Amino acid sequence: MKQKYVLIDCDPGHDDVMAILSTIAHPDIFHILGITTVCGNNLVPLITENILNVLHYIHREDIPVCMGAENPLVYPPSPQAAHGYNGLEGFEFPKHSLKTVQQDVISFMKEKILSSPEPVTIMALAPLTNIATLLQKEPTIIDHIEQIVVMGGSWYRGNVIPHAEFNIYADPHAAKEVFSGKVSTVIIPLECCDDCTISEATVQSWIHDERYLTKMVGGIMDFFAIYGRQHQRTRHTIFDLAVTEYLLHPEIFEGEYCNCDVILLGEETRGQTVFTTNPNSKILVLKHADTNRFEQQIISDINLLANEII
Ligand code: RIB
Ligand code: CA
Repeated sequence: MKQKYVLIDCDPGHDDVMAILSTIAHPDIFHILGITTVCGNNLVPLITENILNVLHYIHREDIPVCMGAENPLVYPPSPQAAHGYNGLEGFEFPKHSLKTVQQDVISFMKEKILSSPEPVTIMALAPLTNIATLLQKEPTIIDHIEQIVVMGGSWYRGNVIPHAEFNIYADPHAAKEVFSGKVSTVIIPLECCDDCTISEATVQSWIHDERYLTKMVGGIMDFFAIYGRQHQRTRHTIFDLAVTEYLLHPEIFEGEYCNCDVILLGEETRGQTVFTTNPNSKILVLKHADTNRFEQQIISDINLLANEII
């Protein structure tokens, strides 16, 4: 597979970390230009500290991190309890002295995209505030973007309010801009993520694996699985990991080209995505994934990294 130059926009976040680890496991496929953070699961200073902790723990201080938007475009921040008190509960990271790149996030993204030898893929694992602002302020940047792959939205239901998924609910104005159809975009909504699960047995295997990396992965996944266990689930959805896995193996996903509108208002509808079939659209909305291949890929990626990182 041709190497992909990627920017990861995220709010780590347990599933964000799994997506990032899986990306790092494939240096032959992914050249990571940088990681940007955005207000989402928790306030941006906290979730930025989470990614610095992870990168320090896995000895990848070379990957530049730039702190992004502290607030959504219009609404106030909406931190989520599901990720714990600091946005990445479950593992106590050792102290570090890593720093973020001291640059405005939009100029950081622009610089990374324009200096890339190939058009860039943006992996969007969080509310779309940074990306929408980039597209608004630098409209010609779209010529240098290969595609944006977004975990967000839903066909029929919600996970924070009845009709909206969190990443779009948190900043619907940003989503409306990004989904306006100017850039090739892949949307991975909640219903596709229903197929992007790992078993409780996999989580337990990481918890009981004493290798350096799996101590961390087991800790954060043990915490992330609490919600599912409380709801008698034996499988756990690793939402953002679907973005990495789509880029690795698009053939295990299926979807349909659509236009996407975003509802901006309403107690039950703020952030609702409305998909309308249009074969000429630049937006591919996914519907299903092969669960078995999804799970086998992350098991293999974590095993590979666990043998490398000590
Ligand atoms: O709705 C799922 C999204 O919100 C994911 O990006 C996950 O990290 C969560 O906070
Ligand atoms: Ca996320």
